[in-house]
Amino acid sequence: SKLEMFVDDLPDMPRIKGFDFEHGVPKFHRDLPPTPVFAYGTSKHTATIPGPTIEALNNVDTYVTWQNHLPKKHILPWDPTIPTAVPANKKGIPTVVHLHGAIGEPQSDGHAQSWFTAQFKEKGPTWTKKQYHYLNRQQPGNLWYHDHAMGLTRVNILAGLLGAYIIRNPEIEAPLGLPHGNEFDRPLIVFDRSFRTDGSLFMNSTGDNPSIHPQWQPEYFGDAIIVNGKAWPRMIVRRRKYRFRIINASNARFLKFFFTNGLGFIHVASDSAYHERPVMLKKFLLAPSEIADVIVDFSKSKSDSVILGNDAPYPYPSGDPVNESNDKVMKFLIKEEHEVDSGRVPKRLIKYPSANLSSASETRYIAMFEYESNTGNPTHLYLNAKSFEEPVTETPKVGATEVWNVINLTEDNHPLHIHLGLFVVLDQTELVDFDEFKGCMTKMNNAIKCQISKYARGKRVEVLAHEKGWKNVYKMMPGYVTKILVRFSYINSNASYSFDATAEPGYVYHCHILDHEDNVMMRPMKLIK
Ligand code: C2O
Ligand code: CU
Repeated sequence: SKLEMFVDDLPDMPRIKGFDFEHGVPKFHRDLPPTPVFAYGTSKHTATIPGPTIEALNNVDTYVTWQNHLPKKHILPWDPTIPTAVPANKKGIPTVVHLHGAIGEPQSDGHAQSWFTAQFKEKGPTWTKKQYHYLNRQQPGNLWYHDHAMGLTRVNILAGLLGAYIIRNPEIEAPLGLPHGNEFDRPLIVFDRSFRTDGSLFMNSTGDNPSIHPQWQPEYFGDAIIVNGKAWPRMIVRRRKYRFRIINASNARFLKFFFTNGLGFIHVASDSAYHERPVMLKKFLLAPSEIADVIVDFSKSKSDSVILGNDAPYPYPSGDPVNESNDKVMKFLIKEEHEVDSGRVPKRLIKYPSANLSSASETRYIAMFEYESNTGNPTHLYLNAKSFEEPVTETPKVGATEVWNVINLTEDNHPLHIHLGLFVVLDQTELVDFDEFKGCMTKMNNAIKCQISKYARGKRVEVLAHEKGWKNVYKMMPGYVTKILVRFSYINSNASYSFDATAEPGYVYHCHILDHEDNVMMRPMKLIK
């Protein structure tokens, strides 16, 4: 049976500000039975999907002891044939929490091998401590927290282990005059999920290459679009401006947002920082884990209701076109009363030092490979033809700026996310004679020896205005080389890190399509002095 759209009100996740909150109900739709999930909360009764929104203040440390109260058995099919956290006694579900976008110490970064089971009974090889320390010394912006356990990230997040985290700096943000307060400043966490009629989450339990990987599939796509834990919700809004922090928390689905009546977005910040100037948009594309911080002015709406739509093919960019369920995200019902809205969007937001190419001390090449079985189905994906376990090869210096050339030799777009580092996308250049270059790379895995400069001279794609600022994840186009400038220091001051970034267990970088990250489009990264 089909679920009716726009019948549930958009929830706002509880916000943790040092006091407790009431519990939410894990029902993804009015007409669905409750769904068994894994959830974050301050107690069993206060857990929600997504988890509570954590609000942090710049320069005020947050300490979190993440405890594991997950049951003995997973609620989703997982696959022991990919590199996976498996406790020695085979009991309990490993988890570890990563704060995505955080500039912080390695011991609190949620390294994939720092997982632990209930009561910390079993721990992964790089586990270091129970209490995580988030420094919040970085620029104000949008982060999110989510599971990062080795080989289980796709199923743990699918089961519900994710939530929003905002770092605020009132001193520099208040003067901007953007919509604020819980009513007008709202995180929208969007992901896709499929359900059985009994309400349980559905994930195909048979892999595309079952003889190699009994369960693992290259991309998970769900039928229903969920916002803040409700399928296609509705939200009654006033005739005024709102701020939406839109997080794409899908496993693999790219989302291209637009309003069905032509209403626009004023894009003020990306996944990691404010822009210098707001950018007016009619449409924008978010890969998994990208964040758009937008202002929407409903007083400009020509109709009294408007649907937030999506038209991104899946997998992106050359998969299926959207259908009548995933082409809609949610609906806004605009109140009739005229409003006096004193809020404004200033011409200038926040200016950070721009990326300085001449300061780059290292140039790296990161190639994205996909491997297939003889049936033509993907078996696994690697960065630089290396699995996760192979010794670390990316060792940037603390404070350094580096050029990373990301070479996408696959057919899909992969969102590359780098822990700790912030980067600016410089350009994307098409590879000519692609098959020849790919053949060489497959044999030698060495961009210099394969004479990349001979091939990287096709079409050049300009970076869009709203994607020109500092980012921590970006869409790597298939058949292109994407050049990024990565910085391993704060962008908002001359201050160097206030922690030891060279400590164990280091960091990781990876594709944020969760099904790719797990098998194993992820590599370790260690900072050195
Ligand atoms: Cu959002 Cu390493 O992840
Ligand atoms: Cu990928």
